[in-house]
Amino acid sequence: MEVQESIYGARRPALEKVMDGIMKHIGEIRAEMEQKLSMDPVEHCLCRIKSEESMREKCRRNNLPETAESALEVLTDAIGLRIVCAFVDDVYTIRDYLKASDEYEVIKEKDYIRRAKPNGYRSYHMILRTKAGYFAEIQLRTISMDTWAALEHHLKYKKSVGSRAALIEEELKRCADELASTDLSMQTIRDMILEA
Ligand code: GTP
Ligand code: MG
Repeated sequence: MEVQESIYGARRPALEKVMDGIMKHIGEIRAEMEQKLSMDPVEHCLCRIKSEESMREKCRRNNLPETAESALEVLTDAIGLRIVCAFVDDVYTIRDYLKASDEYEVIKEKDYIRRAKPNGYRSYHMILRTKAGYFAEIQLRTISMDTWAALEHHLKYKKSVGSRAALIEEELKRCADELASTDLSMQTIRDMILEA
């Protein structure tokens, strides 16, 4: 059986190094914020290199040849990081740190927190370009937003809902809005504690 070569080709190790570098930088931002807030604002932080299969599928979906150039120079999410924060303010503080850094150029930002997707999805998305010319997609969100996204992702695979689809979408949206309202309340409670 022939083994298919990685779509990232010889640049796979470099890609991993860049991802590790960004993770390390997030760790430094986290430590600096912890000093100021007396708490670590990040609940957890995940990173991944987009799998062979998903990257090839995305190339095909975008009518791109399945090459390292498409994967690394046209598409911008070969490297993905998800930073899950306790509070909404922390999302924006980390965003500001990343924007202020000389290490990256922010080439795209989507604020799905201020402007949620019609289905209720919330998160702050950024595409960074590193000095070495690699792209990374950063998703910043609160624990509540992460909970909703994870549950909604599970439900996506259950396509046997038929005529109930509209009702289910409406309910999911309602849950997203309730979680967003709770996030605001939690932020207010935290502000009261910080002021006290
Ligand atoms: P691709 O989806 O990667 O083709 O790019 P896009 O231009 O649509 O980017 P967008 O910023 O909208 O979404 C990128 C990523 O955000 C997705 O791969 C998911 O991880 C996440 N995401 C976006 N929308 C949703 C959603 O409705 N539900 C969930 N669970 N995740 C979402
Ligand atoms: Mg998408």
